[in-house]
Amino acid sequence: EKVVLAYSGGLDTSITIPWLKENYDLDVIAVCANVGQDDDMSKIEEKAKASGAIKAYVEDLREEFITTTIYQAIKAEVLYENRYPLGTALARPIIAKKLVEIAQKEGAKYICHGCTGKGNDQVRFEGTIAALDPSIKVIAPWRIWDIKSREDAIDYANEHNIEVVATKKKIYSVDDNLWHVSTEGGDIEYLENEHNKDIYKKTCAPEDAVDEAEYVEIGFEKGIPVSLNGEKLSPIELVEAVDKLGAKHGIGIVDILENRLVGMKSRGIYETPGGEIFYAAHNYLESATLDKDTLHLKQRLSLEFADLIYNGKWYSKTCKAINAFMDETQENVTGSVKLKLYKGNIKPAGIFSDHKLYDQSISSFGDSELYDHKDAEGFINLFTLPLKINAMTQNGKKMT
Ligand code: ARG
Ligand code: SIN
Repeated sequence: EKVVLAYSGGLDTSITIPWLKENYDLDVIAVCANVGQDDDMSKIEEKAKASGAIKAYVEDLREEFITTTIYQAIKAEVLYENRYPLGTALARPIIAKKLVEIAQKEGAKYICHGCTGKGNDQVRFEGTIAALDPSIKVIAPWRIWDIKSREDAIDYANEHNIEVVATKKKIYSVDDNLWHVSTEGGDIEYLENEHNKDIYKKTCAPEDAVDEAEYVEIGFEKGIPVSLNGEKLSPIELVEAVDKLGAKHGIGIVDILENRLVGMKSRGIYETPGGEIFYAAHNYLESATLDKDTLHLKQRLSLEFADLIYNGKWYSKTCKAINAFMDETQENVTGSVKLKLYKGNIKPAGIFSDHKLYDQSISSFGDSELYDHKDAEGFINLFTLPLKINAMTQNGKKMT
């Protein structure tokens, strides 16, 4: 029997290979999903086999991650609890989908992941597996085994002839991909502490950013970013280029105490430099191209969407329907936005679109055929009628 293992090349997933053999008598197929994390992909296959895997896959999911998932996040401007851009939560479904595909292809009945029993990620992996192939059984070693510390893991590795590469003791729990880095644990767990700026892996503290402001112009077609400063770029090139610009200007830092699905609160530091710029540009473009009712409904659905994504329900009917709604709203979100970046700040410096619902001659204060100032009086009488009625019936006020 075979098991597909979500493999990263690190110590924890390496010892999982002999552990699966020893405890379940399973042949391990290691799958490393490349979503743009800062790991050396070239040695992964070799490493997995050296640890006892019968086969190893390294799958480049970067472009698919951007075009199927990140684009939807930008269109909806999803933020969990109004702040966390969901960089980890967005990557889990596409990784898990690949695990399912390979399990099906290889005839494996099991998928094994390395998430702990206390976090959100386990739910996201298993939510995706449940939605795509409920016949697959999940093995989650961290909910079962006695390995509790790095020392335990090293001992286990030594007993099973697995090479342990000397690394610094991990202080933080980090997850990264081409869209973001999350850092949790260690001194971050103390709310009284300002987080240490040494933890940044992508961006920098605003006070350490370059001293000159910089203008950037992001072009969109139907809500999807397509160009930087007038130049069309491929999805990966564009995301990487904008990410670097954000990093240079100390943009994209979020420090939040969030509510995990599994009940407890947890503090996370997130770096999404490019993401914050894309969201800002998209937001300004929508302000000019979306009508009020659609925009307001979209804002409410976006918060709902963020909860669903956070909670591992990307492959639900609900998310599919919300994605369809978001796509429909983006019909005219085409144009470009110029932004000024400076020490952690993003300010608008120009909105350009052929689809603007804004017409300076209508909005400005002069009279026009379309708008008669006198019409406002009757409108306000009806609009404020409930306020008058309340004042009269509840507060004893009189009309005259
Ligand atoms: N708290 C964040 C989330 O739930 C980040 C999780 C990071 N995961 C990790 N395995 N370090 O999306
Ligand atoms: C984990 O527990 O595996 C990481 C944190 C999380 O999933 O929220």
